[in-house]
Amino acid sequence: MPLARSLSVTSLSGLEDWDEEFDLEDAVLFEVAWEVANKVGGIYTVIQTKARLTAEEWGENYFLVGPYVESNVRTQVELIEPTNPILKRTIDKMNASGCKYAAQCEEPPHILAHFHEWLAGLGLMLCRRRQLPVATIFTTHATLLGRYLCAGKVDFYNNLAEFNVDKEAGDRQIYHRYCLERSAARCAHVFTTVSQITAIEAEYLLKRKPDIITPNGLNVKKFSAMHEFQNLHAKSKNRIQEFIRGHFYGHLDFNLDKCVFLFIAGRYEFSNKGADIFLEALARLNYLLRVNHSDVTVVAFFIMPARTNNFNVETLKGQAVRKQLWDTAQTVKERFGKKLYESLLVGQLPDVSKMLDKEDFTMMKRAIFSTQRQCQPPICTHNMLEDSSDPILNCIRRIGLFNCSADRVKVIFHPEFLSSTSPLLPMDYEEFVRGCHLGVFPSYYEPWGYTPAECTVMGIPSISTNLSGFGCFMEEHIADPSAYGIYILDRRFRGVDESCNQLTSFLFQFCKQSRRQRIIQRNRTERLSDLLDWRYLGRYYISARHMALAKAFPDTYMYEAQDPTSSSGFRYPRPASVPPSPSLSRHSSPHHSDDEDERYDEDLEAEKDRVNIRQPFVAKTKAGDGVPSES
Ligand code: UDP
Ligand code: G6P
Ligand code: GLC
Repeated sequence: MPLARSLSVTSLSGLEDWDEEFDLEDAVLFEVAWEVANKVGGIYTVIQTKARLTAEEWGENYFLVGPYVESNVRTQVELIEPTNPILKRTIDKMNASGCKYAAQCEEPPHILAHFHEWLAGLGLMLCRRRQLPVATIFTTHATLLGRYLCAGKVDFYNNLAEFNVDKEAGDRQIYHRYCLERSAARCAHVFTTVSQITAIEAEYLLKRKPDIITPNGLNVKKFSAMHEFQNLHAKSKNRIQEFIRGHFYGHLDFNLDKCVFLFIAGRYEFSNKGADIFLEALARLNYLLRVNHSDVTVVAFFIMPARTNNFNVETLKGQAVRKQLWDTAQTVKERFGKKLYESLLVGQLPDVSKMLDKEDFTMMKRAIFSTQRQCQPPICTHNMLEDSSDPILNCIRRIGLFNCSADRVKVIFHPEFLSSTSPLLPMDYEEFVRGCHLGVFPSYYEPWGYTPAECTVMGIPSISTNLSGFGCFMEEHIADPSAYGIYILDRRFRGVDESCNQLTSFLFQFCKQSRRQRIIQRNRTERLSDLLDWRYLGRYYISARHMALAKAFPDTYMYEAQDPTSSSGFRYPRPASVPPSPSLSRHSSPHHSDDEDERYDEDLEAEKDRVNIRQPFVAKTKAGDGVPSES
C-alpha cells in the first residue's frame, strides 16, 4: 500500500506553522457525500477544491464516494482499476451482489469515513450500529430544520433555544430526514460544522455541540503577474458588456462605460439567500440614483436555477440582433477599407464623401431597422415553468423594476447556472464573477457561503452578512473589512427594513466610487485570498480526522489537541494606505491620460501590497486589538 503519512500545513506569515505528525501508513480515508462529482451547491465546491490537498496527504488511500450519475461519470470521472487488493475484492463483491458492503480480511487497514450532510448520514449510522471498525466523522453544512425554519416567517436566531424540534420537523414533514441528520450527528466519533454560527444552531437543533469547526477553503490561484486578475476583470467585463448590448438592443440609452454590474448567485432559496432584500434595496437604489441624477447605470444579475422551459425567444433574438449589427459593421468596414486601399494605390487621398455608397447605407438602414423593438428588454432570460408564482418575478412585479428607460437599475434574471457552452451568455461562472463589480449575498440563512469567498479570491468585492459563516469569519479576521471590499451587512441586530436601508447605502456608496477607487479596492480584496486557501484552512479537517482516528482506535493513535483555532488571535490590519483622493494620487504632469492615472495607482498600491503580504497578521495580544495605527 503506498505510504501517506502526514502533512505540514503551512500558514500565513504571522501565524504559527502548524505541523502535525501523524502516522497514516495503515489508514484509509473514505469521504462520502451526495455532491461528489455531482454539482448541487457549495458541498460540491468543498469536495472538489479540497481534493488536491487531501490527496497530497493520503495519496492512493483517499477515496471519494458519491452517487453514480451516468452523465457526471462520463464528464467528471476517470475510470481506473483499484490497485489496493482489499479494495478490489470489496468492489468486486459489491458489484457481484448488487451493492452490499463486504470483506472482512486478515489485516484490514484502519478505516476512516467522513460523511457530509444528512444524505450520507445513513452510512454512518449503519457503520456504528453494526459496530464496524470504522472511525467516523459527520460534517453538517446546514441543519435541515434551520433551513426550513428560516425559509418560513420565523424569527430564527432569537428563538433557537425555544423550538420544540421534533414537533417543528413533523409539522414540516421532514421528520424522517431530520432524524437521520440528528442521529448521524449523535453517533459520529467526531462531529463538525462549517462555521461558528452553525455550531450554535446544531447545538440547539441537533443536540450536539461540534467537536471542531471546519471552515471552507478554496484553491487559490496565484498569478505571476501582479495585475493578471485586473486584466481578467477587464476581459470578462467586455464579454458581459457584449451580452448587455444584445439584451438591451433598441434601448441602449445608457453609457456602458458607466455601468456597474452586480450579481447574486446560488441555489434558489429566495429569502434564505437574501434575494428578497436585494430586490427591495435595488428599488431604493433606483430611486436614489434617479433623484441624484446619477449617470451610473446598475445592472443586477440574479443567477439562481429554477424550473424552465429553455431560453426565451426575445433574449436569444437580442444576441442575434447584436451579432447582425456587428457583422454589418464588419462588412461595411471591409468595403470601406477596400475603397481606401484602391485610392491609395493610385496615389490619391480618398474622397470621404464617396467612401460609403448607397448599398452600404441600405445595409446599415436594414440593420438599424432590425433593432426596432416594441417591448422593454426582458427581465428573465428563460421561459419559467412557474412564472406566475415565482418569488423573484413576483417581487419585481410588485416593486416595478421593469428595465424601463428611466430606470437607473436594470434587472436580469438568469434562472440557470452559467455555462461556457450557453448560446446566450457563453461564460462559465468564474469568468462571469471576474467581469462583475460586486457580488451581493445578503443571506439570512448561510452556514458558510462560498459565493462571497469565491469573489474574494478573484479580487471582486462582495456583500455578505453577519448571519453567514463567511461574513462572521471575515469579521473576526479583518480589522476593517469594508476597506478591503468585504461589506458585512447587519442582519442579526437589525430589523429587515433597517438591514435593507443599510444594504441600499452600501450599494449607493459603491456606485459613487470612481474607476480608480474600484481598481484599488479590487487590489485590496485580492490581498485577502491567502486567508481562504485550503493550504491554511485544511488544518481543521486534518485535526478532525486525527481526532476521529484516536477516538476509534485508541491503541494505535493518539490525538494531542493542537489548537487549530489559534488563528482566532490574529487579525488582518487596516490597509496601510487610505483610499487615494484624486488630488493626492494624480501626477503633477498635465500630459497623461486617465488610464495612465489608473495604471499608476494600481502600481503604487501593488507595491504596498507586496510589503503587506509579508506581514499580514498582527497578533492581538501584542498590538491591543490588532489594529495598527494608520500610516
Ligand atoms: N455556482 C456555480 N455556478 C453558478 C452559480 C453558482 O457553480 O452559475 C456555485 C458557486 O461557485 C458556489 C456554489 O454554487 O461554489 C454555491 O455555494 P454556496 O456555499 O454559496 O451556497 P449553497 O448553494 O451551497 O447553499
Ligand atoms: C482593470 C484593468 C483596467 C480597467 C479596469 C476597469 O483594472 O486593468 O485597465 O480600466 O479594470 O475597471 P472597472 O471597475 O471600471 O470595471
Ligand atoms: C451548504 C450551505 C452553504 C455552504 C455550503 C458548503 O449548502 O448552505 O452556506 O457554503 O453548504 O459548506
